[in-house]
Amino acid sequence: MKNILVTGGAGYIGSHTLLELIKAGFRVISVDNYYNSIDLSYQLVEEITGAKIKKYQLDLADKNDVEIVFQENQIDGIIHFAALKSVPDSVANPIFCYQNNNNSTLIIAHYANKYNVKNLVFSSSCSVYGNVSPEDLPVQEDTPIRKAESPYAYSKQNGEVFLKSICEVSNLKVFALRYFNPVGAHPSGQLGEFPSKHSNNLVPIITQTAAGIRDHMTVFGDNWNTRDGSCIRDYIHVTDIALAHVLALQKLFHPEWNNQFEIINLGSGKGVSVFEAIKSFEEVSGVKVNYKMGDRREGDVEAIYSLPQKAKRVLGWEAQYDVNDMMTSAWQWQLKLIELGFNLTKI
Ligand SMILES: NC(=O)c1ccc[n+]([C@@H]2O[C@H](COP(=O)([O-])OP(=O)(O)OC[C@H]3O[C@@H](n4cnc5c(N)ncnc54)[C@H](O)[C@@H]3O)[C@@H](O)[C@H]2O)c1
Repeated sequence: MKNILVTGGAGYIGSHTLLELIKAGFRVISVDNYYNSIDLSYQLVEEITGAKIKKYQLDLADKNDVEIVFQENQIDGIIHFAALKSVPDSVANPIFCYQNNNNSTLIIAHYANKYNVKNLVFSSSCSVYGNVSPEDLPVQEDTPIRKAESPYAYSKQNGEVFLKSICEVSNLKVFALRYFNPVGAHPSGQLGEFPSKHSNNLVPIITQTAAGIRDHMTVFGDNWNTRDGSCIRDYIHVTDIALAHVLALQKLFHPEWNNQFEIINLGSGKGVSVFEAIKSFEEVSGVKVNYKMGDRREGDVEAIYSLPQKAKRVLGWEAQYDVNDMMTSAWQWQLKLIELGFNLTKI
């Protein structure tokens, strides 16, 4: 049985990936400092899988703290999720963002090298493509990288550059997975993203509005050059994202896989507009969403969606869940959060 170190395992995508790794027969070790998560996500994964997660609470950006994880465990592969993901927070405090996101990546790479761990999956983001223009769509892995729109996006561009150059001079093999817009919750409705003041994503805002936690939500602009005037994004179910990580690790472990650094887009390939997302939610939940129209937000991109062919070709991965599945699971999870006593001020 192979041991996988998952950084940021208590977080949204990390916890769903722990679950799929356990189901696929891996033993998992997780590190998180709970900056944007809570211990309860581990408990929920343990309840669903019946497995025990070995976990460490420490700061991956602090080199002295991290070595113990490598000393105490024989690690076969690493999935490096841990990062601060809030774009507005990164604009407000870019140095903190770089210190956290880039130092943690370098520290993980340092110990991977020292302890001879050769396989790593890195959480990257479609934000590395910058402000894509309509002629760049659909976005492919070789679509030109434009100027990053935020320190967060720079931190992901930097992470990729560091890892690629480390791969060139070592035996480290890396998949950098560029996620589009992960949403939804585990199909059981028993695991999902805990509400956070650092999160500003559309789907939790929809479900919180429907649940009455928010009085209303705002749609930023109905005059974009899109089919219904609202922005278009490539939403992808979090379980599909998690499964892609399992496949990426299995590929890295395959004796014939010798590529050192590969970038792969993880998207559904289908753009969904804000109005379409709201409509899908209303259909599957039977609950009306109280939304108001607002002005365009500075920094928003009109439309971005992927061409996920490389993921299919290299990993044998494609999205299994559609937007209705995303909304159904997100609503189930919202109801579970209410049952657990969570509201926005609790985290
Ligand atoms: N969710 C998205 O929309 C999205 C999109 C593209 C890329 N990503 C990337 O995917 C990864 C996971 O995202 P997520 O949505 O699960 O975010 P998340 O905030 O839920 O999870 C990240 C986890 O990392 C932990 N963490 C952060 N810095 C740490 C540190 N220094 N030491 C230890 N733990 C630390 C946080 O406490 C959190 O539990 C991140 O790298 C993020 O940038 C996310």
